[in-house]
Amino acid sequence: MLATDLREALERRGDTVIARSRAELDVTSVRLVRHCVAEAKPDVIVNCAAWTRVDDAEKNEAAAAAINSGAVELLAGAADETGAKLVQISTDFVFDGTKRTPYEPDDPTNPLSAYGRTKLLGEIAAAHATHHLILRTSWLFGVHGNNFVEAMKRQLARGVDPLRIVADQRGRPTFTPHLADAIRRLVDAGAEGIVHYADSGDATWFAFASAIVAGLNSLTGVTPITTADYPTPATRPAYSVLSTARYTQLTGAEPESWREGLLDYLRTSDTPHSLPRP
Ligand SMILES: NC(=O)c1ccc[n+]([C@@H]2O[C@H](COP(=O)([O-])OP(=O)(O)OC[C@H]3O[C@@H](n4cnc5c(N)ncnc54)[C@H](OP(=O)(O)O)[C@@H]3O)[C@@H](O)[C@H]2O)c1
Repeated sequence: MLATDLREALERRGDTVIARSRAELDVTSVRLVRHCVAEAKPDVIVNCAAWTRVDDAEKNEAAAAAINSGAVELLAGAADETGAKLVQISTDFVFDGTKRTPYEPDDPTNPLSAYGRTKLLGEIAAAHATHHLILRTSWLFGVHGNNFVEAMKRQLARGVDPLRIVADQRGRPTFTPHLADAIRRLVDAGAEGIVHYADSGDATWFAFASAIVAGLNSLTGVTPITTADYPTPATRPAYSVLSTARYTQLTGAEPESWREGLLDYLRTSDTPHSLPRP
């Protein structure tokens, strides 16, 4: 999802981009990672590959860790061999959600899930690269991947009414083209260390779903429920609003709005935008 939008954003700017699919480059293979990086001699490596199936990671933590941290260690080593900067994409799920004010990059981490633990190990691995940027983000949606907007559209297409959506988890939805631009700005600014980027405006999943339903001109109802009403294998942080103050300080740019991103998403995605009430 992110990688496709990032490639498009960089190519639009005239950057030379070498993008590798999983079939072309398994990032858990030391031989392939070394060979690919030695051949491409990149200035910057942006690792968009990850085990992102949060709930499945609970029963497959070792397999998730191989991708989310073992591979990052390989990329860090390869980056140092060619003098490249490693940009590692990380997540709000490294936090436990007990704060009630936005999380700063240096706040203590305490992941609640296997996914969060493996991504935190990935941050530690990325920091082994001499030049590294660890970019935490949250609640991604983009037209090239499975995401919450698509999940809502599937429910609407099935005629579910009302949608019952969790209203006691709060975060910052982020449109992947906005994140792609933020990555470029941070690289241009020479940013290193840990930085947060998320779109402006925090929301609950309930508020996000309500905006999706309104954006689709659907009359379907949306009912708030609690996390306890919707148990999942992985525990999510109740509050994972990321502070983007450091991003703005480094780049001089304010984050884009997720609501604007959602409208762009709905304009460009290929499903009907107006769903009749079932
Ligand atoms: N989605 C979110 O809400 C969210 C929130 C915060 C942070 N993030 C982070 O943002 C980054 C991008 O996420 P995304 O949503 O764009 O993820 P995504 O759409 O699931 O893309 C991840 C990609 O990694 C590939 N991959 C998995 N294992 C690989 C391997 N061994 N070698 C090479 N490629 C491999 C996957 O290929 P297959 O499809 O073939 O498995 C997939 O194309 C990730 O680091 C994620 O942890 C995501």
